[in-house]
Amino acid sequence: MEIITFATIKGGIGKTTLSFNYGEWLANRNKKVLLMDLDQQSSLSRTYDVTDQEGTVEEIFNVFNDDDMRKPVKIHHVNENVDLIAGTTRLDKIQSRLETRNNKNMILFQWLQQHFDDVVDHYDYMIIDCHPDIGIATTNAIVVSDAIISPVTPSKFSYDSITELGTRLDEVRNDTINFATGESFVKAQVFYVANMIKHNTGISRDFIESIHKEKESGENWIAEIPEKEIFNRSIYYQVSVSQMENLTKKSADEIDDALAIVKKYASSQKPETYKEINNIFEAITKRV
Ligand SMILES: Nc1ncnc2c1ncn2[C@@H]1O[C@H](COP(=O)(O)OP(=O)(O)OP(=O)(O)O)[C@@H](O)[C@H]1O
Ligand SMILES: [Mg+2]
Repeated sequence: MEIITFATIKGGIGKTTLSFNYGEWLANRNKKVLLMDLDQQSSLSRTYDVTDQEGTVEEIFNVFNDDDMRKPVKIHHVNENVDLIAGTTRLDKIQSRLETRNNKNMILFQWLQQHFDDVVDHYDYMIIDCHPDIGIATTNAIVVSDAIISPVTPSKFSYDSITELGTRLDEVRNDTINFATGESFVKAQVFYVANMIKHNTGISRDFIESIHKEKESGENWIAEIPEKEIFNRSIYYQVSVSQMENLTKKSADEIDDALAIVKKYASSQKPETYKEINNIFEAITKRV
């Protein structure tokens, strides 16, 4: 199983939108995907209408009870090839309780070790959506990740937060040294994706220009994602871009009434739009 975490310092940059759409895109290509919602806002869970507060990520981080007192984590089957471990609004409180705990950054690592057969061995990908900070939950995600994807938008605050993310990741690396080997548990590489790039604005153009320069000097910029209404709609309709593309290929009597409006919207999109988005996710998959 490959673990990919979407993390940023600043909020509203596209982590949830991309976790959802990229996870669904992988699933659509026959990969078995487990989504994990490590954000107390629980936007990703709500995108699947999962509001059940039993068996959420709380049970992973609830190390205060003895193991046999802990409730099992629920794995919700939310779509073909897509399962979800739901988020909880209580995650910030749990993190505060964990603050003074030894090994607080290794909780998810240990949970995955205990769930090798039913989780690690069962999925091709785990996609983790985080709260916009490097708190205990995000740190736990970083420790287990193979890759960290950090979206950046064409705004000064977003761009400036790249440096801070780098600093915080260095801290996490230093805080998670395996004393047996002297090496950090953190093995993930960080990849940046430029998100919400507008067509005709000076600021987007300048942004892309700086990215291209950084790429030349070796920074890991792996994709440029345009600002497109279809991403907003995917969250609004709770139907991913991949599913929308599938809908365009179906006849009206193959789909139920609830999806008819989505099919209408999906079919109004140019084939190039789907092609462009598929190419972007393809490029990301090749790099991470
Ligand atoms: N490429 C895009 N084109 C158009 N809209 C986008 C794009 N990416 C994200 N959005 C929109 O931007 C808004 C913020 O995105 P999202 O909720 O995914 O950010 P986030 O990083 O998860 O936020 P938070 O840090 O609060 O969890 C949403 O309305 C989403 O639909
Ligand atoms: Mg989010």
